[in-house]
Amino acid sequence: MGKVLSGVAIDAMVCLAGSVSWAQDAANGEKTFKAKCAPCHGPDAAGKPAMKSPSIKGKTADEIQKAIATSPKHASLKSLTADQVKELAAYLGTLK
Ligand code: HEC
Repeated sequence: MGKVLSGVAIDAMVCLAGSVSWAQDAANGEKTFKAKCAPCHGPDAAGKPAMKSPSIKGKTADEIQKAIATSPKHASLKSLTADQVKELAAYLGTLK
């Protein structure tokens, strides 16, 4: 986690203005991820073979929306807003 945060901080310094809201999105997304996704997809989004959950690093908002809409595993996530999904995608994009 320290690694991810310092990466975001460096991006924010390099890219100045525009990336500030992006960094905020990623930080919010990390909170949502830890609360709602990490139990199944693992603390670093790398997936958990034992639960048959794949890595979701770098997934886009569209891919997340689709996964929530189509997989019965995501029944508890239908209440996520479009903004939360966007934030999740911003966070997952910081993971490599
Ligand atoms: C109850 C366990 C569980 C939770 C909680 C969960 N997932 Fe999943 N997810 C899975 C499993 C299992 C799969 C693969 C099988 C399937 O799609 O049904 C999956 C598949 C996905 C996929 C598709 C990946 C691919 O390569 O096709 C995405 C994207 C995804 N999840 C995102 C999320 C996000 C974002 C959250 C949190 C908001 C989340 N999931 C929470 C279990 C879970």
